[in-house]
Amino acid sequence: MKAAYFTRTGPPEVIQYGDLPDPRPAPGQCLVKVIAVDVNPIDTYIRAGLVPSKPVFPAILGRDLAGTVLECGPEVKRFNKGDRVWATNQGLGDRPGTSSEMAAVDEQWLYPIPSGVKEEDIVALSLVAVTAQLGLVRKAQLKSGEILFVNGGAGGVGSCVVQMAKSMGAKVITTAGSDAKADACRQLGADVVINYQTDDIDDAIRRAAPDGVNVWWETLRQPDFDRAVPLLAMRGRYVLMAGRDAKPVFPVGPFYVKDCSLHGFAMFNGTPEELRSAAEDINRWVLEGNLKARIDRVLPLSAAMEAHRLQEDSTIRQSGVVSGKIVLRV
Ligand SMILES: NC(=O)c1ccc[n+]([C@@H]2O[C@H](COP(=O)([O-])OP(=O)(O)OC[C@H]3O[C@@H](n4cnc5c(N)ncnc54)[C@H](OP(=O)(O)O)[C@@H]3O)[C@@H](O)[C@H]2O)c1
Repeated sequence: MKAAYFTRTGPPEVIQYGDLPDPRPAPGQCLVKVIAVDVNPIDTYIRAGLVPSKPVFPAILGRDLAGTVLECGPEVKRFNKGDRVWATNQGLGDRPGTSSEMAAVDEQWLYPIPSGVKEEDIVALSLVAVTAQLGLVRKAQLKSGEILFVNGGAGGVGSCVVQMAKSMGAKVITTAGSDAKADACRQLGADVVINYQTDDIDDAIRRAAPDGVNVWWETLRQPDFDRAVPLLAMRGRYVLMAGRDAKPVFPVGPFYVKDCSLHGFAMFNGTPEELRSAAEDINRWVLEGNLKARIDRVLPLSAAMEAHRLQEDSTIRQSGVVSGKIVLRV
């Protein structure tokens, strides 16, 4: 089968596109004909060798897939040949990556694609939508009527946080780096959008949330607690999910005297049951029309190197060149 893979860690140029042996499904696995995959920032960290879990070479790229079941192992109970499925949380530990024509995936990580939903759209949601659901539902326990601020509402995770928080009945304040991205955030349902290049963010948050924000979701890799903590409401929750090397100053007094709490998490630690529950919510929101994918561009799988360059430029160097997800058609 054709695959996008690497045989040593390094810059995007280590990515190869070529033939690897076809996988065979284990008893509890489905063999999936992959139709679409996407690119996430963590793909670039794994390829660059920046995460503790070391890849097994040749290492296939990718965490997510959408496709069709070709074959089921004898112990598979929930799927049949021909079912359309999506998955996330692959490509780490003993789970191979997804950027290949076929992938053998444990059925516990597979979810049905809702009828009428395109593979490109569901795969563009997968990891980022699961992250948003875990953070909002399990960690922050966002309630209807609360105010949520998400820094970076046009991004992969941010755009899902905006839409899900609206579905959960919150007022949503967010930031974007251009007028076009601000418009995109409004279309996703954001109530207040602040242009972080031109506006006074803190002043705009204070005006939109005079008693503070109940949930602050930071998508940047450099959280600024000195700024954020004074803007939290009593019993505010701060969601932290990026910034492996960040060592920010933390204003302890203003935090604990308001009974605030800090919720760090990584979606890859989610159990199969937690992720399946997230996938059920995601499929329901998609069917209801309350959760839509934001796709920047669709490229062929053979352009995986270019896709990694773009993702790194955008997320690590904050060039803003990507607006939504990069999807690769297999
Ligand atoms: N813990 C987990 O489970 C988990 C899961 C997924 C992702 N992550 C991490 O979360 C981070 C975001 O991931 P992603 O996929 O959402 O990335 P992304 O799609 O690249 O989004 C980055 C966001 O940052 C915004 N941004 C850039 N500079 C900004 C600034 N100065 N002020 C405010 N916003 C700014 C961008 O806004 P514009 O586009 O408007 O410029 C964009 O909305 C990455 O570090 C990723 O590794 C963690």
